Amino acid sequence: MFQVAVQLDTVMNNLRLGVLISGGGSNLQAILDSVAAGQLDATVAVVISNKPDAYGLERARQAGIPAIGLDAKNYPDRESFDRALLYELHRNHVDYVVMAGYMRLLGTRVLDAFPHCVLNLHPALLPAFPGAHAIRDALNAGVRVTGVTVHIANEVFDEGPIIAQEAVPVLPDDTFDSLAKRVHAVEHRLYPEVLQLVAENRVSVKNNKVVINDKSKN
Ligand code: GRF
Repeated sequence: MFQVAVQLDTVMNNLRLGVLISGGGSNLQAILDSVAAGQLDATVAVVISNKPDAYGLERARQAGIPAIGLDAKNYPDRESFDRALLYELHRNHVDYVVMAGYMRLLGTRVLDAFPHCVLNLHPALLPAFPGAHAIRDALNAGVRVTGVTVHIANEVFDEGPIIAQEAVPVLPDDTFDSLAKRVHAVEHRLYPEVLQLVAENRVSVKNNKVVINDKSKN
């Protein structure tokens, strides 16, 4: 009897994530590893890529998770692509959408279906260096510090209430590869940590700013 109650509790509280990717999926892997290690109380319900050949889909398959490639070429317009994406998210009972290297703007149809429940990861300290080449842009600008941002997504690329940021120093002899390596290492730790805050229901938005609630208040 007790065991049944515990299992039900686990099922009811487990946050179901829909992870969106476009590429290698090393952040997806970090999320999967955190779940497997018991450090993230969530289930990756589905992984969806707008690039059907993304290696991240293979990582999902290896973990026994539904992996779906939606090729934008097969949809006449953004609206029908977003409808297909939303269908897959709902079909897999996703509570929270996690963009992890997803290089396509999410339409309002999807954002409206998950209000304040779509996260994005960015390899710079937003609002500095938005866009697809943030690490290269920071290096070229000669900044001494860049970093990683996790934020709630809105309809503008790399905008929306910031949940967490962590600085990464740019060293005098950094190349793109050496800096990218340190930025990615921070991403792989920070994103699962933020997702755990979400899983603990500690992230809320007030006046377009994120509030992180104390654990004890939940
Ligand atoms: C990450 O640096 C993410 O911040 C950026 O794209 C990269 C994706 O890497 N938007 P991966 O596919 O998770 O390895």
